[in-house]
Amino acid sequence: MMDRQMRLGIFVQPAGHHVAGWRHPDAMPGGPNLALMKHIAATAERGKFDMFFLADNFTTGYAEHPSSIGKFEPLTLLSLLAGTTTHLGLAATASTTYAEPYHIARAFSSLDHLSGGRAAWNVVTTSYAKNGAAFGRQHPPHAERYAIAEEFVEACKLLWDSWDDDAFVMDKARGSFVRPGTLHVPDFHGKYFTITGGLNLPRCPQGHPVIIQAGSSAPGQALAARTADVVFTAQNSLGDAQDFYRGLKAQLAQHGRGEDELKIMPGFMPVIGRTEAEAKALFAELSRNLDAAQANTVLSDRLGTDMSRFDQDAPVPELPESDHLKSRALLLLEMARREGLTVRELSHRVAASRGHLLVIGTAAQVADTMEQWFSEGAADGFNLMPPFFPGQFDAFVDQVVPVLQERGLFRRDYEGTTLREHLGLARVPSRYAAEHAAE
Ligand SMILES: Cc1cc2nc3c(=O)[nH]c(=O)nc-3n(C[C@H](O)[C@H](O)[C@H](O)COP(=O)(O)O)c2cc1C
Repeated sequence: MMDRQMRLGIFVQPAGHHVAGWRHPDAMPGGPNLALMKHIAATAERGKFDMFFLADNFTTGYAEHPSSIGKFEPLTLLSLLAGTTTHLGLAATASTTYAEPYHIARAFSSLDHLSGGRAAWNVVTTSYAKNGAAFGRQHPPHAERYAIAEEFVEACKLLWDSWDDDAFVMDKARGSFVRPGTLHVPDFHGKYFTITGGLNLPRCPQGHPVIIQAGSSAPGQALAARTADVVFTAQNSLGDAQDFYRGLKAQLAQHGRGEDELKIMPGFMPVIGRTEAEAKALFAELSRNLDAAQANTVLSDRLGTDMSRFDQDAPVPELPESDHLKSRALLLLEMARREGLTVRELSHRVAASRGHLLVIGTAAQVADTMEQWFSEGAADGFNLMPPFFPGQFDAFVDQVVPVLQERGLFRRDYEGTTLREHLGLARVPSRYAAEHAAE
């Protein structure tokens, strides 16, 4: 078996990741469907996945993609799934632009306690300006969103260290609930947040929940290099993914971190068939179910400009960089240029996988691409994005996971119980632990 093991997350969107995925006969109706969520979590655990991952957005402003509406609030759902699973990591997206650090630190610490050390927070700054409407606020510009995020994550880390690991002794004989001198009340005065109150929860099983970061621009990468354990990214060619991987890993040393301390997991949509022809037919069926105007709206949203005004059968024109989705818009435009795509072709591609890596083929072909990216310096693992649930996720677990295991690339069973253990990451010691040891 190879020493280095692939990490796998299942990115769950009830209506599927393909815009037309929910229309397939093997798709269960999405919406807030608890039976479907439990089925996916159980299947992920059967497939020995590292984590169950939920994205998030607010308002109905992005309703043209069915995966952005009709779903549970992530932390509420994961709290329930903590009780139906035993090993699976539980990752929820939460925005640093529309929340307070105390709420987020407390909720994720709670989830880590509830699940015995399986919580992860996907830190996003929220791309779409429309989300601001839910809060009656102006969406801050890109640079400011990242300045807020830097402070936000720092504040959460301070809050998670409010108590020493051995603080809650609950000694009945001595009448001592917490050990004296083990509370460290944050004294945080930033530009955006002030926190002078500690977290009313003991330190969580993983020390800190796992931090995932999704945002790939230069400030996004800087935030990740300093603070994240996992990066979720959207790369669609091996070369771009290798550049991103190399560039981001190189930034870790300046923060005194080793390359293994940050796992890079691109999104990945496999369209799986028993034969290559069957997989292609499935993709063609999904494309046929696509509404052209809807695909155009999804693309326009991604690029921050109305794409219906261009000739749909002409090559994608040069476009200015947009503020809300810098890194991802640029990758899409690069892909269009590299592959000579027309506006229509690009809109179909984006309606399928939203710019993430797309592979259409048999289990062995899907495993080949994953192995290549994993062994040639482009990925430490993947955040899987099936076109629809549960059919295509079941197919992955039943057909692709055994091939990865056979090749020694992926675990046959869990070796630990916490998400940090699955990911090969150490528990986070308290920042005050060294001081205490010296005393
Ligand atoms: C792979 C990926 C997943 C993301 N998921 C979400 C999400 O679930 N919710 C959200 O509001 N923003 C999400 N974002 C948006 C980012 O947080 C960020 O606002 C946006 O990508 C712009 O930053 P960037 O230029 O650094 O990528 C995601 C971004 C990437 C790259």
